[in-house]
Formats: sequence, structure tokens, C-alpha cells
Amino acid sequence: MVEDTENNKLPRHIAIIMDGNGRWAARRGLPRSEGHKAGAAAVRDIVTHCRRLGIGYLTLYAFSSENWNRPKNEIAALFRLLLEFLNVETPLMVENDIRLNVIGDITALPAPQRAALRHSMSRTGKGRQMVLNLAINYGGRTEIARAVKNILLANLTADDITEQSISDHLYTAGQPDPDLLIRTSGELRLSNFLLYQCAYSELYFTETLWPDFDSNELDRALNAYAARSRRFGRIEENPKEGD
Ligand code: FPP
Repeated sequence: MVEDTENNKLPRHIAIIMDGNGRWAARRGLPRSEGHKAGAAAVRDIVTHCRRLGIGYLTLYAFSSENWNRPKNEIAALFRLLLEFLNVETPLMVENDIRLNVIGDITALPAPQRAALRHSMSRTGKGRQMVLNLAINYGGRTEIARAVKNILLANLTADDITEQSISDHLYTAGQPDPDLLIRTSGELRLSNFLLYQCAYSELYFTETLWPDFDSNELDRALNAYAARSRRFGRIEENPKEGD
């Protein structure tokens, strides 16, 4: 349960680095692909839970631009899971008023995955209750370089360059920045994820491996978030004693 704090602070936008599928499988003597399969099931549960809680934006790191270095059969398994996920989840997203949005360069993906993503984005395009950003073939530095390129192509001048105009050229244009960034499996890195957007995000790390990250684990992260005071670089107005 998410505790009802005095000024119930639910993040508007949660971003998650889903890590630990491989270790989850290895601990069970299973192939890595089984870990990813269990990871995809966790994705379903977390999307459902976020929608139920009224989280407006959820961004999941599904495939980084560095993940191309993995063995071919693992990449193929991940892409198969993506197709399966889109087939099953697209009607449910429509039903639940969720809009799917891909962040990353999908031109490099195999044709069936590209087509399924485009189809799913168009079918869920009217979703108003939640945006699910799937980061696929995504890298934060590449995203910033792409934004700069697009700014030049739009003929903006040096005077037009502001934090906002850069933000407006990122994949997440128009969306609030993540309030909370979660990474599972005990790794303490950003791994090139949402570098510009996470400037003031609260960070939450857990040892739990992604396939074991369920609604109770998310509630734990949300309670930790609600207990933090976000100062955005300012001093606290009414500091508690000892702060
Ligand atoms: C990290 O685990 C996870 C990934 C590389 C991809 C995340 C993919 C999923 C959760 C499944 C598919 C997703 C969708 C949306 C269908 P790892 O393999 O790096 O784990 P390890 O660090 O323990 O090896």
C-alpha cells in the first residue's frame, strides 16, 4: 500500500531502469531469455499498478543502444518478447486509456517490430490517462545530439537556445521530467538513461532483481519518494530540527 502522507506526493513521472533479468535466470539455472520473459511479466504488473495509482507518465528502459553488443540470440529473444508484449497489451492499453510512445531510434529495429510499434502507437494514440514511454534503442547522449541537430534544422538562433528549447527537442518533449528514477538489481549507475531529463529526479536503488519487482516493491519506492524533501537546489523553508 502507498501510505497516505499529509501532502500525498505521488510522482507524476516515474522512470525505471529494469535490470537483473540475467541474474534472476542464472540463479535458477535458466537461460537468460527466461529472465527476460519473467521481466516482461513484471512490466505488465508495473504498468497496471501505475495506471491504477494514477501515475501520468511511466518510462521503461527496454533496450539501450549499447544492448546491440549482446549475443544475437539474446537480442532476438528480446525482440520476440517485444512483439508478444505489443500483441497482447495493445488492446488492453486502449481499454485502459494508455498511450504508448517509443523513445529511441526505432529505424534500426527489424521490420516486424517497427511495424508493431507504429501500429500500437497509432492505436493507443488517444490514450489520456497515462503515457507509457518505452525506451528502445535509446541512449541519452545520442538523444541530446539529435536534439541539437533538430534545433539547427529548425533554424533556431543562438538566442533561442534555452533549457526549455532543448527540452522541446528531446523525445520526451511536452512531458514533465521524471520525479523518480528507479533502478533495480543493486547497480548504482544511470547507464545513459534520460540524462537531460533526470537533472532533479529523486533516485531510488533496490537490490531486487527486475523480475521480482512487483507492486509491493513499487509501493516501497513510492513511500521512500514521498518521505523525501525535494529542494531543486534551494534551501529548505521550514527545516526539521537536525536537517
Ligand atoms: C536488464 O537485465 C534488462 C534488459 C536488458 C532489458 C529489459 C527487458 C525486459 C524487462 C523484457 C522485455 C520488455 C518488454 C517491454 C517486452 P540484464 O539482462 O542486463 O540482467 P543482468 O544484469 O542480471 O544480466
